[in-house]
Amino acid sequence: MVLEEPFDFKRYLESRRLRINQWLKDLIERRMFQAGRNRRRLCRAMAYSLMAGGKRLRPILCMAAAETVAQPSGGPSNDLQILEFGSAIEMIHTYSLIHDDLPAMDNDRLRRGQPTCHVAFDEATAILAGDALLTLAFEIMAGVGLESKAGVLALQRVSRACGFQGMIEGQMQDIEAEGKDLDIDALKQMHQYKTGALIEASVAAGALLAGGTQAQIAALSDYAANIGLAFQVTDDILNVEGDPALMGKAAGTDLDREKFTYPGLMGIAASRDFSRELVNNALQALSVFDNKAQPLQALAEYTIERKR
Ligand code: IPE
Ligand code: IPE
Ligand code: MG
Ligand code: MG
Repeated sequence: MVLEEPFDFKRYLESRRLRINQWLKDLIERRMFQAGRNRRRLCRAMAYSLMAGGKRLRPILCMAAAETVAQPSGGPSNDLQILEFGSAIEMIHTYSLIHDDLPAMDNDRLRRGQPTCHVAFDEATAILAGDALLTLAFEIMAGVGLESKAGVLALQRVSRACGFQGMIEGQMQDIEAEGKDLDIDALKQMHQYKTGALIEASVAAGALLAGGTQAQIAALSDYAANIGLAFQVTDDILNVEGDPALMGKAAGTDLDREKFTYPGLMGIAASRDFSRELVNNALQALSVFDNKAQPLQALAEYTIERKR
C-alpha cells in the first residue's frame, strides 16, 4: 500500500512563489535590464514594484486550478505556459496596485513593505510604470495564446476581468462610494468587480490552459467567485485590525478615507462570519474534484486566515 504524504501547504506556497519570482526575475533581466535599459527610469520603476514582495496569490491560483484539472499528457510545455500566463496576471495585479496607491486614488505611501512606486520614483513615473506592466502582460498572454485556442480564451477572460466590466469598474465604484452610505448589494458588487473578477479569471485561465472541461471550469469559477469576495472582505478586516508590519501596508486608512467596506457596514464579527461562509461555499464547489484539489482547498482557507 502506498501511503499518501500529508499535503504541506507552506511548502507548496513557497515552491510556487519561488518559480514565479524566478520567472519574473529572468524576464526583467532578459527584457528590461538588457542593453543598459536598467538605467532607464521606467524599467527600474516597473521592476521595483514587481519584485517588491507580493504574495503571488493570483498566479498560484492559476497554477493550482491547472493542476486540479490537469491531464497526464499536459506535459512540461503546458506547465511553462501556465507559469508565464499566471505571471502576466501578476503584472496586471501589480499595475493595479501602483495606480491604486496614487494620490488621486488611495494615496498610500507603503506597499509590500516598501515605499509605493510614486513615492520611490514620482507620480508620472508610477503612472507610466503601471501602464507599461499592463501592456507587457498582454504581450506575454498573447504569446501563450498563439499556441492554442485555450490560450486565446484565457486571454479574453482576463481582458474582460481587468477592464470596465471588472476591476476598473470596481475601482471606479470604490472611489465614487467614498463617504456614501450604500447598501450591501452595492458593496458586494463593488468587491466582486474590483478584486473578485481578476481572481476568478486567474483560476479560469489556469483551468482553460490545462484543458479543463466546461463543467470543471464552471465549478472552479464558482469556487473562485467565492474566494475572490472572501479575499476582499478579509482585506477590509485587515485594514481595521491587521498588523501593518506584517501586511507591509498601512492599516486604518479605510476609515480615514471613509471607504465603503464590510466592517464599516456590518462590523468585524459579521464580516468574519460572512467570509467563512464564502469559503465554505468555495470548498463545496470543489467537491466534484478528487484530492488534486487539495491546493485549492488550502488556498481557500488561506484567503481568510492570512495576516498579510
Ligand atoms: C491587495 O492584493 C489588493 C487587493 C486586491 C485586495 P494582495 O493582498 O494580493 O497584494 P500582494 O500582491 O500580496 O501585495
Ligand atoms: C485594491 O483594493 C483593489 C485593486 C487594486 C484593484 P484596496 O484599495 O482595498 O486594496 P489595498 O488595501 O490598497 O491593498
Ligand atoms: Mg483602493
Ligand atoms: Mg488601496
